[in-house]
Amino acid sequence: MTVPADFPDAHFADGHPHALYEAVRAHGSPVRHPALPLWVVGTYAEAHAAAADPAAFRSGDGILIPEIGHAYDAPPTIMHTDPPDHTRYRRLVAPAFRPRTMRALEGPVRDRVRALLAAGPADAVGDLAVPLPLQVICLLLGVPEDDWPRFHAWSEAIVPGAAPGLDDAGRDRLRVECGTYLVRTAHERRAAPRDDVISLLAGGDRLTDLELVMFLIQLLVAGNETTRHAISGGLLAFAEHPGQWAALRARSGELLDTAVAEILRWTSPVVYFLRTATRPVTLGGARIAAGEKVMLLYGSANFDPLAYGPDAARFDIARPAEPAGMAFGFGPHFCLGAALARLEIRVLLEEMAARYERIEKAGEAVHNGSPVVTGLRRAPLTFS
Ligand code: HEM
Repeated sequence: MTVPADFPDAHFADGHPHALYEAVRAHGSPVRHPALPLWVVGTYAEAHAAAADPAAFRSGDGILIPEIGHAYDAPPTIMHTDPPDHTRYRRLVAPAFRPRTMRALEGPVRDRVRALLAAGPADAVGDLAVPLPLQVICLLLGVPEDDWPRFHAWSEAIVPGAAPGLDDAGRDRLRVECGTYLVRTAHERRAAPRDDVISLLAGGDRLTDLELVMFLIQLLVAGNETTRHAISGGLLAFAEHPGQWAALRARSGELLDTAVAEILRWTSPVVYFLRTATRPVTLGGARIAAGEKVMLLYGSANFDPLAYGPDAARFDIARPAEPAGMAFGFGPHFCLGAALARLEIRVLLEEMAARYERIEKAGEAVHNGSPVVTGLRRAPLTFS
């Protein structure tokens, strides 16, 4: 059997289970899960094809395993919507991530990176990868700096499993606080707009209060943990591949963009999302029946030798830009925050390459064990 019955739950203690992915890909085609009602898609071509075709593979019936068999009764998030509703929703919120906004953020992101580096980071997770995406999201939203610590607490409360010390009542209290804060801020910005994303989305009749708050919370959920794991996993990869760090320092002008892409491929923080077949459809060699689910394993697709060649398992920052990695998904749900995440990683690499000759391990890294958003909980490194 290629897929064990307890996949994915018990298989992420050490990050991506590459041997298991390899076995799934060797099957050549989607594989039936022995215990869950879904097909596991581990190959690049098939994951790409399914993500590209929302008419055949919809998101509206749930995208995570705990959602299987439960009617989704919360207001649908952008990720749980299909065209044409998704197209409308995406058009309304896309201006928050337009290139002009991203360009304007580069200077402030660089300032934040410099401040974090000046403090002498020792843990790539706690000292860099956790604070940077949080601070950048606060910058994007226009949250005043005094409120950043509260945002940190809220964001940890919102992401399932991110704050294990918190009980349900504590979590609910923080979630309500966060929602209340966001609605109040949206009302303030509607009355007195500033040059920030809450003002942009609150202006006009774009979104109802509920839609707006759902979307802002979605940004915290979708943007923080993912970027955190790409940053910390990327720095650990450089510590484990000193030749690659030396190459980046020597040719940073030329290699920065491909290095960012390689970090995203290498870390693939989002393990999977599900889709549901809307009609009988052939994917690879598998006949998927209407209503059956497919699990798009982005981390496995990103290591597929059929897409990346025989050295797919090597960390290589000079890897050609094509085929584009699937860490951000593909198709209509392609990550809305991709440019923002890339900006953060690029500026961090640029600033670090200018300062540090060496990145070295100073202890064992600890994985978070999550079968949904995989990454590091701790990564002691020295930068010199
Ligand atoms: C390394 C960092 C990141 C990774 C690996 C990542 C990954 C992904 C993936 C795989 C999807 C596709 C969902 C699907 O196929 O159903 C997605 C969607 C999304 N991401 Fe990201 N993401 C990252 C950073 C961010 C950031 C920084 C933000 C915002 C601040 C963000 C906001 C979103 C949103 C709003 C969607 C939904 C798009 C839609 O359904 O149309 N992400 N992301």
